[in-house]
Amino acid sequence: MKGIILAGGTGTRLHPITRAVSKQLLPIYDKPMIYYPLSTLMLSGLREILLITTPHDQDAFGRLLGDGSQLGIEISYVVQERPNGLAEALILGEKFLDGDKCALILGDNLFYGPGLGTHLQQNTDVKGALIFAYQVSDPSAYGVVEFDKSGKVLSIEEKPNEPKSRYAVPGIYFYDERASDFARQLTPSARGELEITALNNLYLERGELRAEILSRATTWLDTGTHESLYEAGGLIRTLQARNAMRIGDVEQIARDLGWI
Ligand code: DAU
Repeated sequence: MKGIILAGGTGTRLHPITRAVSKQLLPIYDKPMIYYPLSTLMLSGLREILLITTPHDQDAFGRLLGDGSQLGIEISYVVQERPNGLAEALILGEKFLDGDKCALILGDNLFYGPGLGTHLQQNTDVKGALIFAYQVSDPSAYGVVEFDKSGKVLSIEEKPNEPKSRYAVPGIYFYDERASDFARQLTPSARGELEITALNNLYLERGELRAEILSRATTWLDTGTHESLYEAGGLIRTLQARNAMRIGDVEQIARDLGWI
């Protein structure tokens, strides 16, 4: 399995900050935002990573992360010319994936929780698609997944006005070898994007999508607004000060894993 981090987009909700700087390079307390999703992929055991950026931000990410050798991983880069939607990552990443399975993570998603790495590692040999579900108070801001009593997925809707459940779909998705092919079959949504929810629905219609509920012990934050960015920084600061453990420290993770 290979990893893709999607770190493009215009960050309009964070204007004017993101007029000059990529959202995913903004600090979450003491590290750039991109460190957190990168650390999640590393903790899943993935060492081949593709970073998708806007054309003008690619150099800055290159200065920060280089080819990844300092972390014992391989980072390559691809440009997304326009924010055409999350599912475009699978098309842009087709050559990099070269027929392998992949974990796609959004550059503004932060995960923290005991056992998350192990949980993800157990699922790297995915068949079909695996998404996650996380109970939130405001599901209509996200993709929303509805389950039946047995835990089978009934529907996934993108930012519904009337959510059918409280389960949001966090920005980490595991796909088998067919993801790029399926992404090519999608057509742009009303907002002009290749929606990740549409890709997930393609797998669902074929009976090949599974959703696992992330435990309450896991923290999931999407850091795309001023409020959530500020909150995330405060949370990392509090946790690190309280238990003297580092969160999202990619160098320490590489060392702990014996990669450097
Ligand atoms: O955070 C989880 C949510 O992410 C999911 O629940 C939704 O189903 C999914 O559509 C997505 O919703 P958002 O509205 O939060 O996505 P946003 O447009 O903010 O993009 C997420 C990240 O991906 C952000 O870091 C920018 C980047 N991006 C976005 C687009 C549309 C790209 O790199 N390229 C793109 O074309």
